[in-house]
Amino acid sequence: MSRKANIAVLVSGGGTNLQALIDAQKKGVLKSGEIRLVIASNPNAYALQRAEQNGIDRFAVSKKACGSQQEFEKQIIELLERYHIDFIVLAGFLTVLSADFTARYDHRIINIHPSLIPSFCGDGFYGLRVHEAALAKGVKVTGATVHYVNEIPDGGEIILQKAVNIRPDDTPETLQKRVMRLAEWKILPQAAELVSQKILSEQK
Ligand code: GRF
Repeated sequence: MSRKANIAVLVSGGGTNLQALIDAQKKGVLKSGEIRLVIASNPNAYALQRAEQNGIDRFAVSKKACGSQQEFEKQIIELLERYHIDFIVLAGFLTVLSADFTARYDHRIINIHPSLIPSFCGDGFYGLRVHEAALAKGVKVTGATVHYVNEIPDGGEIILQKAVNIRPDDTPETLQKRVMRLAEWKILPQAAELVSQKILSEQK
């Protein structure tokens, strides 16, 4: 069988986007890359259990336990190198990575953000806050974006976007769920496949 791109998924929470990647791998939507490693910034992240249930190697690396950003990133890099990782998917990873780290993995890190960038993104826009801001502004359409990660929060090149209509009775919670189901869980695996194909073609 031909080589696949080696993927690491970095998580902090429930891991529904990790699950979407695992399911896509099983269905063959993600076929040019394989999830080799899951790293959680929080040892209690349910995402670690999802990795375990699917036989994927997993580690918790906590910034608090590491004592500094530098040590935290050093431990992550050691794992990425040990597993010969080609690219990293940030799937609800809540720790901001340093400019040194993002430069080291230039065009080798992708992130899912729950809005149509450049709306409702950047510093402080994470989780429910993104959807609260969209509803407060009264936009009628929101969605999700997968982008490369650089030193600017949510500022890297856009790979895929998908729009989701806002309903008059939406709350931040209902909107968050619908954006996940209709957009995030679809475009993250699609983007992982596109990036896998690109990396493999560059290595030929
Ligand atoms: C998602 O909304 C994602 O867009 C954001 O964090 C959330 C992660 O959820 N970056 P999960 O852990 O994948 O369920």
